[in-house]
Amino acid sequence: MLWAVSMLSVLLASLKTTNAQNTTIPAVLDASMIESMGNNSLFMKWRPTSRFIAPAGWMNDPCGMMYDPTRDTYHLMYQWHPYHVNWGNISWGHATSKDLVTWTDVGGWEGNNAEGIVTGSVGSYDGLGIFSGSAQPVNLQGEQDGTLLVFYTSVSRLPTNWRLPYLNGTETQSFAISNDGGVTWEKYESNPVISAPPEEWNITGWRDPFFEPWPEMDRLLSNTEPHYYAVFGSGIKQIGPRIPFYSAPASDLTNWTFLGALWEPADNTSLGNPVETGTYGFNFEVSNFFSLDDEDGDVHYYIQMGAEGGNTTLHTRGAWALWNEGLISRRANGFAQFTPVASGAGDWGLLYAVTSFNDTKNNRRVQWGWAPEEMNDFAINQQGFQGAFALPREQFVKVTKGLINADGNLTTLGNNRLVEKSDGTFTAYTLGVRPLDDVVYGIRNGSSQQNFAIGAVSSSSIAGSGSNHIEFMATFKNFSGPAGLTVAASPGSEEYTNIYFDPDTFTINVNRSYSSTIVEFANYTVVGYFYPYTLAKTGIEDVVMHVFLDGSLLEVYVNDRFALTTRIYPSRADSTGFGVYIGDGASVEVTEMYTWTGLANVFPERPLNSSSQLVFDTPEQTNNYTWWAGN
Ligand SMILES: *[C@@H]1O[C@H](CO)[C@@H](O)[C@H](O)[C@H]1NC(C)=O
Ligand SMILES: *[C@@H]1O[C@H](CO)[C@@H](O)[C@H](O)[C@H]1NC(C)=O
Ligand SMILES: *[C@@H]1O[C@H](CO)[C@@H](O)[C@H](O)[C@H]1NC(C)=O
Ligand SMILES: *[C@@H]1O[C@H](CO)[C@@H](O)[C@H](O)[C@H]1NC(C)=O
Ligand SMILES: *[C@@H]1O[C@H](CO)[C@@H](O)[C@H](O)[C@H]1NC(C)=O
Ligand SMILES: *[C@@H]1O[C@H](CO)[C@@H](O)[C@H](O)[C@H]1NC(C)=O
Ligand SMILES: *[C@@H]1O[C@H](CO)[C@@H](O)[C@H](O)[C@H]1NC(C)=O
Ligand SMILES: *[C@@H]1O[C@H](CO)[C@@H](O)[C@H](O)[C@H]1NC(C)=O
Ligand SMILES: *[C@@H]1O[C@H](CO)[C@@H](O)[C@H](O)[C@H]1NC(C)=O
Ligand SMILES: *[C@@H]1O[C@H](CO)[C@@H](O)[C@H](O)[C@H]1NC(C)=O
Ligand SMILES: *[C@@H]1O[C@H](CO)[C@@H](O)[C@H](O)[C@H]1NC(C)=O
Ligand SMILES: *[C@@H]1O[C@H](CO)[C@@H](O)[C@H](O)[C@H]1NC(C)=O
Repeated sequence: MLWAVSMLSVLLASLKTTNAQNTTIPAVLDASMIESMGNNSLFMKWRPTSRFIAPAGWMNDPCGMMYDPTRDTYHLMYQWHPYHVNWGNISWGHATSKDLVTWTDVGGWEGNNAEGIVTGSVGSYDGLGIFSGSAQPVNLQGEQDGTLLVFYTSVSRLPTNWRLPYLNGTETQSFAISNDGGVTWEKYESNPVISAPPEEWNITGWRDPFFEPWPEMDRLLSNTEPHYYAVFGSGIKQIGPRIPFYSAPASDLTNWTFLGALWEPADNTSLGNPVETGTYGFNFEVSNFFSLDDEDGDVHYYIQMGAEGGNTTLHTRGAWALWNEGLISRRANGFAQFTPVASGAGDWGLLYAVTSFNDTKNNRRVQWGWAPEEMNDFAINQQGFQGAFALPREQFVKVTKGLINADGNLTTLGNNRLVEKSDGTFTAYTLGVRPLDDVVYGIRNGSSQQNFAIGAVSSSSIAGSGSNHIEFMATFKNFSGPAGLTVAASPGSEEYTNIYFDPDTFTINVNRSYSSTIVEFANYTVVGYFYPYTLAKTGIEDVVMHVFLDGSLLEVYVNDRFALTTRIYPSRADSTGFGVYIGDGASVEVTEMYTWTGLANVFPERPLNSSSQLVFDTPEQTNNYTWWAGN
């Protein structure tokens, strides 16, 4: 019986994928070829396979991530518009994992089967969108009895954007509950749970509830009973972005009290030089908080958020992922106040809606973020999807001792919190970030590893060729100028991408000028601030680049405290070469270089081509395309 059922679903699966017509992609693509190709014909060309990604269609923010201890299962949901390549009618897709490496679509990969929480009827409190939110493996009384609880933003009016007048009633905050381990979800009968934004705030937005227990905050606020705390993304027009702060007794998660804003940054300000700290912009999205102990047991308080509108000439995108470390104190009115002491970019490229959860199974803080495309809307129907998540990353307090202020830059207000020691050296505390070790090992499963002996070099060279699902690890020292890696290079150098550290500007750069011969795709150089430490004993630290290319998705990690995610769309099938990049007149020593070619597919139960037929919505379904674009 079981066999018969599974044979039937295999048969249905093969019938439904016939719309993915074109599997023969030319070895060298150009823009005019693409324009003549059908929907989904490039589905496989630049698709990440070792990343968390929707089966097809549009995806954005990570949502509802949690570890369910009752069933020893991780959950990860995502903003999803199945059958469409653009944002609209946004719901939550859902997948689960036992190990954070491989994932299973809940409900199956086909069509919109993986939808977990969907919009109600148009006109109802969540009829136009299930916006982002978070989850906890508890019931409404805060007990771990196998119930799963999701807190999301219910949307009833659109459009919404921090630049537009806010339509009263657009966003409210609601619960969805699962009693079967996330297979099915029911909306809480008394939704919405929080029905209006803070009075007297002329808001830019009010969304993306993030809720967690926060024992340190209980102590600070003298709450003898454990509470949950919640933050949202928000802002006050012409005043500044805000993180509204709420609490509820753990024993009644429906009873939320507004505790003011965590802090009051003014519009588009920054803690330090925006080159190093970013700017807060005008509206926050996907705010989240956490505290972490350092190796001496001292607690550090962090918030991270997406800042909208704070683009600078170095960071041209209109939104970016920031974090701040702050001191927490009590205000005269008894509420909590966050005072930033360090600030940096969670990701220097396009990763956005970066949020985190407590991986209670491993007692670590795990972050996910959304990597949009940078195709400039070209070839979108041919690709048949947009968006993926970067690798899950561990966030931790990175402590570096014995530093000296070699050039004056260490002690400027920026992304390090510094303590001067009696011997004149400094200890730096910053927010560390690295892809989860266990996930890195997991996706290497089935790959082939190579080691390269390179040494001191003063000109660029190609070392080998791999694939566009590849990991690099390389250690550099003694930079006399810009140097790093070349990836995704074609044999005739028609296409290549250079990733390098520039010691004169303290920047990591991804030069995409020649990443693709198709000029429609974004080709600006992505720049992030990276200031190498100088140690009293050993001098300037080595630069360790850990780079992952997965289809179009390129992630660059440096020294466990720098992350940059970007996209490249080479036109050629043979753009798989890699080597060392050396800027004009520069030299560097490459002490180690490893590659792992052919990273694993993390959705083994899906076919690689999981495309679905595209649907374009009618004017009636989209309020004449004012709610969303329709395709
Ligand atoms: C498949 O791709 C080829 C080569 O680009 C193109 O000529 C053909 O029209 C495509 N077919 C479909 C159905 O898209
Ligand atoms: C792509 O999908 C849309 C919506 O189903 C359809 O109208 C259009 O004809 C398709 N385009 C091609 C080239 O097949
Ligand atoms: C906004 O909506 C709320 C709840 O529906 C209502 O109480 C309030 O008066 C409205 N405010 C304005 C300015 O319309
Ligand atoms: C809210 O902000 C908008 C845009 O700045 C402004 O036009 C409007 O008057 C403000 N409303 C209130 C009630 O302050
Ligand atoms: C809600 O919680 C507050 C404490 O945070 C408490 O004072 C109040 O009595 C609770 N309300 C209800 C209806 O339980
Ligand atoms: C920020 O982006 C906007 C919209 O693209 C643009 O008009 C503005 O010039 C940018 N500002 C900076 C400082 O780059
Ligand atoms: C925001 O701040 C940045 C950095 O100071 C500046 O370059 C940009 O022009 C500002 N944007 C606006 C809209 O004021
Ligand atoms: C995770 O939660 C547990 C239990 O509440 C807590 O003891 C631990 O410190 C938290 N860990 C992190 C990394 O947030
Ligand atoms: C930072 O270092 C650069 C290069 O060594 C130097 O030109 C600059 O003055 C330093 N900045 C500060 C604030 O000391
Ligand atoms: C980069 O893209 C622009 C279009 O946005 C194009 O005009 C330019 O030629 C491209 N640069 C290179 C080096 O291909
Ligand atoms: C939005 O998505 C839900 C869930 O798939 C669906 O039931 C509903 O018809 C869609 N609404 C519109 C306007 O397309
Ligand atoms: C859409 O636009 C058409 C033409 O302007 C108009 O007749 C119709 O009433 C509009 N429909 C909606 C739902 O706004």
